[in-house]
Amino acid sequence: MSKYASARAPGKIILTGEHFVVLGAPAVAAAVNLYAFATAQSTSGRRLKVEANIPLSLVGRDENKFQPDTKELLEPFRLAARDSLDYLGKRTRGVSLEVDCQIPIGAGLGSSAATSVAIIAATSRAYGENLDKKQICQLAFGPESYLHGSPSGVDHATSTYGGIIQFSKPDNVKQLRLDKLPSLLVCDTNVHRSTKRLVGSVVKRARRDTDLFKSHVHDVSEISFSAVRALKRGDDRELGDLMNKNHELLVEIGVSHPSLDRLVTAARRAGAIGAKMTGAGGGGCIIALCKNDEAALKIGSVLRRVDGTPYMVSLDPSGAVSSTDGGTALK
Ligand code: PMV
Repeated sequence: MSKYASARAPGKIILTGEHFVVLGAPAVAAAVNLYAFATAQSTSGRRLKVEANIPLSLVGRDENKFQPDTKELLEPFRLAARDSLDYLGKRTRGVSLEVDCQIPIGAGLGSSAATSVAIIAATSRAYGENLDKKQICQLAFGPESYLHGSPSGVDHATSTYGGIIQFSKPDNVKQLRLDKLPSLLVCDTNVHRSTKRLVGSVVKRARRDTDLFKSHVHDVSEISFSAVRALKRGDDRELGDLMNKNHELLVEIGVSHPSLDRLVTAARRAGAIGAKMTGAGGGGCIIALCKNDEAALKIGSVLRRVDGTPYMVSLDPSGAVSSTDGGTALK
């Protein structure tokens, strides 16, 4: 008899350390309440069926001809399902998946990682297995590698574990317990791009300019460790300064974009304590650290006037969650 299960997994923002995390620096990332949902039905043949609802409005426009085709969007999801079945010893079985991604695509918010994580959690649950977070995170590496080439693992670790994490390597993830959560605003440039291309170009440059990148990795490691301490102390001023410093380093290695720099400058002028691009860059989103939610609303309305799309997000504390009750508890 076939069984159904559902799962959801959150998107993420990177507070410090993107790109340099691929080269060995730690990163600090937070899961946010934008979700990918997956419903899985176990089937008897080996067939994998993936139906995805990815609103085109979330794909955004791209001046660098970033055009995710359907195969490219769906292949990692098929891999996530196939790897999960293999892991469960169900090589001869299949799964029918319905995927609903509410996270903007190519915007630096971890949409692909969240979708893969939700698929792995739902597929395993449909086969009666409740994988732990470490297992889900390990399985998500395959589909992420297909999409990103050489991912650090920070996206799917954040999506799997939830909350705010300090990430060094997939087997070195620390969840931070904070007394006070920072008030963060996410704002989309609506210019979307390919993470694989951007990560590839940074890795290439790092191989050429070894001394320069060694010094950047050292500086970003200090930024991430200091950001963890600032978060634990609830020191927004220090955290904001660190975010600003991190943005300048990302500008220096060429992964920012005029649309990102415009929003970062506008956010700081409108009162943000700190602001930076988040994720791979080349477009996508910025994050702004705000004094409180009221200030975030005000800054959001200023950013709208310079063509940004603000998302009022909050922290997702749970990460990947699955259920066999038809999924209503997850929505
Ligand atoms: O896919 P994005 O835009 O969320 O970027 C992922 C973060 C990078 O550091 C750029 C890549 C990685 O695998 O860590």
